[in-house]
Amino acid sequence: MSARILDGTAVAALVRTEVADRVDVLAGRGKSVGLATVLVGDDPASRLYVDSKRRAAEEAGIRAFDHSLPAGAALGDVERLIDRLNESGSVDGILVQLPLPPGLDEAVVLGSIDPSKDADGLHPTNLGMLVMDRPGVAPATPTGILTLLDHYGIPTDGAMVVVVGRSLLVGRPLAILLGLKGRDATVALAHSHTPDLAALTRQADILVAAAGRPGLIGAHHVKPGATVVDVGINQAGEGLIGDVDFEAVAEVAGAITPVPGGVGPMTIASLLENTVAAAERRITGRH
Ligand code: GUN
Repeated sequence: MSARILDGTAVAALVRTEVADRVDVLAGRGKSVGLATVLVGDDPASRLYVDSKRRAAEEAGIRAFDHSLPAGAALGDVERLIDRLNESGSVDGILVQLPLPPGLDEAVVLGSIDPSKDADGLHPTNLGMLVMDRPGVAPATPTGILTLLDHYGIPTDGAMVVVVGRSLLVGRPLAILLGLKGRDATVALAHSHTPDLAALTRQADILVAAAGRPGLIGAHHVKPGATVVDVGINQAGEGLIGDVDFEAVAEVAGAITPVPGGVGPMTIASLLENTVAAAERRITGRH
């Protein structure tokens, strides 16, 4: 293997230490920081993700409030819970784990969160602020990816970036973030209808695989020396595998994120950053 490993676990630990320091400062001013997680249904993978987010929050000194609703919960039940969390003085950040069970409209549920408490940065107002390049809550996974690239000194300015996958959670907001002034990447957003995916991805200096399709990206998709970011977290028998054929691509790429231990921990770190930032805004009265 020749590629450098972009170690999300290690970089996330640095971010989480900074978050813990900020939580301590707030504690010194009498303000505790709280994150509420909302899980609808009993998907085991979602339960694991929520639990690891809660554990990370508690390790940073953030109080974690766990809320679970049954898979058959009505929209009104979810909205009532979120209203309560919006009003709660102990809750600074709210995270609704996705995907929601069929029948619950994600846009409506995400839209019911107070945008100032939107720990994931997925509220329509925050996504709108992102498009307008105005201050808002940044989407957690895209922000985590940029923090990881920054840490390893991988520039986006002038880079050709291909993002594969146009999800609300990752692909679409990441493509927008990368194109903003200050980031200055040239971005292509590829998806299932993209003709000759490999011809496009081979042009990428930075290739982000976020399609949710195990093994989608092979060595022939990658320009020698490119940075490859694997956002896939696909359940595969005994463990998790990404969208990238790690063994093959690591022979060609210059740098690569592993799964697990790459983007996943960075998402959690960004979520905690958003939560402590929300608490800081509340104490200074800047909503
Ligand atoms: N499901 C998979 N990843 C995420 C995430 O980052 N946030 C939320 N809310 N749900 C997810």
